[in-house]
Formats: sequence, structure tokens, C-alpha cells
Amino acid sequence: MSEPKGDIGLIGLAVMGQNLVLNAADHGYEVVVFNRTVSKVDHFLANEAKGKSIIGAHSIEELVKNLKRPRRIILLVKAGQAVDDFIALLEPHLEKGDIIIDGGNSHFPDTIRRYEDLKTRGLLFVGSGVSGGEEGARHGPSLMPGGHPDAWPHIKAIFQDIAAKTDGEPCCDWVGPSGSGHFVKMVHNGIEYGDMQLIAEAYDILKRGLGLSDKEMGDVFTKWNKGVLDSYLIEITRDILYYNDDDGKPLVEKILDAAGQKGTGKWTVAAALDYGVPVTLIGEAVFSRTLSSIKDERVRASKILTGPKPAFSGDKQQFIDDLEQALYASKIISYTQGFMLIREAGKVHEWEFNNAGLGLMWRGGCIIRSVFLGDITKAYQKNPQLESLLFDDFFHAAIDKAQPSWRRIIGLGAELGIPTPAFATALAWYDGYRSDRLPANLIQAQRDYFGAHTFKVLDEFVSQKYPKEGGIHTNWTGRGGNTSASTYNA
Ligand code: 6PG
Repeated sequence: MSEPKGDIGLIGLAVMGQNLVLNAADHGYEVVVFNRTVSKVDHFLANEAKGKSIIGAHSIEELVKNLKRPRRIILLVKAGQAVDDFIALLEPHLEKGDIIIDGGNSHFPDTIRRYEDLKTRGLLFVGSGVSGGEEGARHGPSLMPGGHPDAWPHIKAIFQDIAAKTDGEPCCDWVGPSGSGHFVKMVHNGIEYGDMQLIAEAYDILKRGLGLSDKEMGDVFTKWNKGVLDSYLIEITRDILYYNDDDGKPLVEKILDAAGQKGTGKWTVAAALDYGVPVTLIGEAVFSRTLSSIKDERVRASKILTGPKPAFSGDKQQFIDDLEQALYASKIISYTQGFMLIREAGKVHEWEFNNAGLGLMWRGGCIIRSVFLGDITKAYQKNPQLESLLFDDFFHAAIDKAQPSWRRIIGLGAELGIPTPAFATALAWYDGYRSDRLPANLIQAQRDYFGAHTFKVLDEFVSQKYPKEGGIHTNWTGRGGNTSASTYNA
């Protein structure tokens, strides 16, 4: 048997898989492909892959036999059981040091499990975020690989060759061990949900608040895409608003207002709840999708419930400029929250994240790519230990400048009866985050009153009666005779 020629294998010839294969072939790599429906291999070879350095395999064994050692195999299959099934099919044909890369949107706990399991048998598992959709897969995705560190030297060249480039730099670097790559991809998707929700709320305000046509809103997004909001999602929103159906009417206004979700945003919020991180904007974005999905109930509610009729009569241009600043400020809060989650996950899992590196990976190729991410990268390059994006001079100044507009927009949204949950939670979070005193003292008193859950006192009130250690319970009603505070080991 002649020496195997394949540089990398790929299983899963759906559109993303095909595009990633074509991208790798364009960069001079010999790619061996397999698909559960084998006829898809032949169809791909006879069409899109014709004349390219792509070898078709009609079995897992044939795929493996055609790969150089250490073998590198990318799985682009549906997250969940299919990944475990293909790992089980591959393993008998692999040898120690071979590499399996899951490029799907797998849930990071699954990636941790697979990484730990395969490691015991000498196989190197990588969970890689792949972002940018079909276009990204074909011409340059953002890639976020993490897992067994021994794998990285063997996949670095191909990953960085096929990745998107920004200022000549690949939007791909090693994220860290275990499930860290898929964790970061999950946070990317959560932030994506937040960006999309903010844009949707801006669209709603422009439409229902100012009564702009889709063409006029497209003009607004065209202008915004030349400023601080310059980004892929603003750009595609511009295109969507300009897009007319065959009857000359904007297609977007014909689309059912019920948002789908595959789950990565929900996972982000679940992780935030688990790690105790107030990621409120992504939370609102997920709940807004679920609120939108109860369309029939909302239609019934709209016939029963009353509220203000949106009719703005002020300076429209000022409103639009305020809206741009409010969106920008809310976006800063969302990314601040996202990086707080990454920080906490790093502590929980002992993963060391390079935030500037993450900013670079997200600067191009992915769905949240933007000029804004360049500013985030600079902030973390300036101070890798930055506790919060809001403590960076650039973002601190940006928020200060945006505040008046931000507050006006949220007030107007409430007056006009237009829901702005993401804008509003961003400002509420900001006002909470910058408060050195919050009303949680009353909550502690209530908890102790009805449940004797105990409380602590501020340092200035620590005394023999109110010791620093342990929990303090007060007999709030005086019933039962004992009126003094008692201390419990919390
Ligand atoms: C990406 C996207 C992609 C995701 C779609 C659909 O980074 O290319 O995030 O991974 O699957 O956005 O996600 P939802 O159905 O959850 O919106």
C-alpha cells in the first residue's frame, strides 16, 4: 500500500463541511472526506470537489487508511449522540497520538467528557468553535480550538491557513485545554444573541417609534455601519432592510415574528447561572426569543391589554443619534458581561484564557466580527489582567459619552410602549454595577425575618454583638422573649 497522502480528514458533508473542505483544498491540503450517506461523497467529488485535492472515502476504515500520521479528523456532524457515534466508529482504527476534532456546536460539558475519556487511551481530542456560517467556512471562519495541547502543533498550520485573516493575523489561536474552545464558542453565540436582540430592538423603535420605512431604516443602518457600530450584523441588517420581495415589498416584513434558537444562547445563560455571573443581557435575549415564540398568545393578549400608542413627535435625527449611542453602550455592557463569564469559567475549570487573543479570534470571520472587537483586543493587550472592560479608559469614556442618549432612549421606549429589554437590562446592570450600595441588605433582613437565614453586617458595625464570622440572626418580632441577636456558623 502506497504511503497515505491525506493531510486531514473530514466527516460530515453538509454545507459547512463541504465549504471547509474546499477551503482547506484551496490552501493546498490533501483532504479525505467521508459522510454517513456515502452517496454524498460521490456527488461531492463529481461536483464541487471536482479537480481539487480531495479524496473520497466510502468507509471509516478507508478514510483512516488515507491519512498521514498523526491522523487528524474533523467531525462536522450534529452536536450530541452523532459525535459520540463517530468517535466510537473511528477509535478502533486509530492509534495513540491521533487527533479527533469536533467542529460542531457541541455543549462544552460533552467536550470535557470526550476529552477526558479519549485521553486515557492516548487519543487527542479537540473541541473547536467554528464561526462564520457557510460563507465563513468557505472563505475564512473564526476558529476557536481547545482540548489536548499535544494536538495543537499538528493542526495549527492548517487551522490558521483556513481561518479568516484580520490585518494579516489569522482569526484562530489555541484557546486552552479540555472544553475551553467550545466554551468560548458558546459565549460567542450568547454574545451573538445579545447583539441580534439589541439590533432588533433598535429596528422596532425606528419602525414603531419613528414610523420609518424599511428603506429609511436601511439608510440608518448604512450610516451606523460607518461608525462605532461597524460590524457584520449591522451590515447584514442593512441588506435585509433593503431587500424587497418580487412584489416590491420588504421581505422582512412578511417574516413570522417568532425567533428560533438551537440552544447555544440558552447554554450561555445556564453557565452564567451556574457560575453566579450576572449575564443579564444575553438572558434577556434568550427570553425575548421565547416571548416571540408564543405568537398566538401574544396576538390574543394584544386584543385584551392596553398601553401607549407609539407616536414620537420630537427631533427624529436626535432620536436616531441617541439610538446609535444606546446600542453602542448596551453592546459594551453585553461584552463586559461575556468576558466576566469567561473569567469565572476560567476560575472554575482552571482554564487560562487570553482575552486579547479571543478578541483577535473574534475580530474577523465570525458572526460577531466588528471594529468594536478591535477595541476590545487593544484593551486587553494594554492590560491582560483588566478586571472589567468598563475599567478600560476607552470604554469608560465611551459609556460616559453615551449615557445621556442611553437613558433618553430607554425612557422613550417606556413612554412609547415599545419593549427594549436588552437596552433596559444593560442600563440597569450598569447602574447596579457602579453602585457601592445596593438594596440587598433589605433582602437579607427579609430572609432572616421569615427563614432565619442569617445576615452579616458592614465592617463598620462589626462588634461583639455582630461578629464578622458566622451568620447573625435577629428575633425581628420580639416574640418568644429573646430579643438579642444570635450568631450561627454560616
Ligand atoms: C456561527 C453561528 C452558528 C449558529 C447559528 C444558529 O457562529 O456561525 O453562531 O454557530 O449555529 O447562529 O444559532 P441559533 O439557532 O442558536 O440562533
